Amino acid sequence: MKLLTGNSNKNLSLKISKFLKTKLVHSSIRKFSDGEIYIEIKENIRGNSIFLIQSVSSPANDNLMELLLCIDALKRSSAKNITAVIPYFGYARQDRKVAPRTSISAKLVSNLITKAGADRVVTVDLHAGQIQGFFDIPVDNLFATPIFSRHVKRNIKGKNLICVSPDVGGVERSRALARKLDIGIAIIDKRRPSPGKSQVMNVIGNVKNKTCIIIDDIIDSGGTIVNAAQALINRGANEVHVYITHGVLSGEAVEKIRKSKIKNLVITDTIDNSDKIKKAKNIEVLSICNLLGEAIKRISNSTSVSDLFK
Ligand code: R5P
Repeated sequence: MKLLTGNSNKNLSLKISKFLKTKLVHSSIRKFSDGEIYIEIKENIRGNSIFLIQSVSSPANDNLMELLLCIDALKRSSAKNITAVIPYFGYARQDRKVAPRTSISAKLVSNLITKAGADRVVTVDLHAGQIQGFFDIPVDNLFATPIFSRHVKRNIKGKNLICVSPDVGGVERSRALARKLDIGIAIIDKRRPSPGKSQVMNVIGNVKNKTCIIIDDIIDSGGTIVNAAQALINRGANEVHVYITHGVLSGEAVEKIRKSKIKNLVITDTIDNSDKIKKAKNIEVLSICNLLGEAIKRISNSTSVSDLFK
């Protein structure tokens, strides 16, 4: 088994390689002057099982193309099998036609990854679980919930807790965390009047005098979470803590979080945000490296991955 990294999140790849005590495959990923990507694998990988680590994070198009070209290079170098480890699976939010004449990017990206030659995909907190069905190869969708529940138990002790889903689509995820913490849930009725804008219509459940734990898969512009936190405080919540797997954090998101009612935002390192969040005191990063490393080990040894979540 060998590990190869793309350029999107080398820090995470290095942590995974340390966890697995396996060096990263020597490779070079460069660009022609017009922006085309050129990939060269600089050691023999014939007959090896390769785990290629690459998030489809910003710049999403470049990182996606890099992922596809790496898979192609691995296939043409006679790798025995190729597992695309995609900690953040970008383009997943368009998973159905939300309006006439729109694309389903999640399906197109799934097709591209399969056609390029991947034999398996490992990812974390897919935006919608059914995206697994867009592939005809195995997909292991890992969950950050156990990492988050451990953090809540260690850091937010003995308080009147409630788990909050920031929209109806996130109820299953919130229920999973609430079950682990043995607490109840509330749901925010969120509307999107236009793309990138979010509006809280209602809060379903009583949050008065409670410490709210919001959980979501993605924080992008920050609008959803900042508005949700404000709505909870307006309805009498004491504190709002937020747990989100993928810190996309585009535009002014970090500044919005800094000024918001959010006491603490916890994200994982599926996306490398080390530069962006340097000055934000209320943002904390938990590493997903052990979870991904353990999943890679289990896939490699043909043992159960789902047992990780029991
Ligand atoms: C939406 O369904 C997702 O789970 C997130 O809530 C959304 O992508 C967050 O976007 P933003 O931070 O731009 O409001």
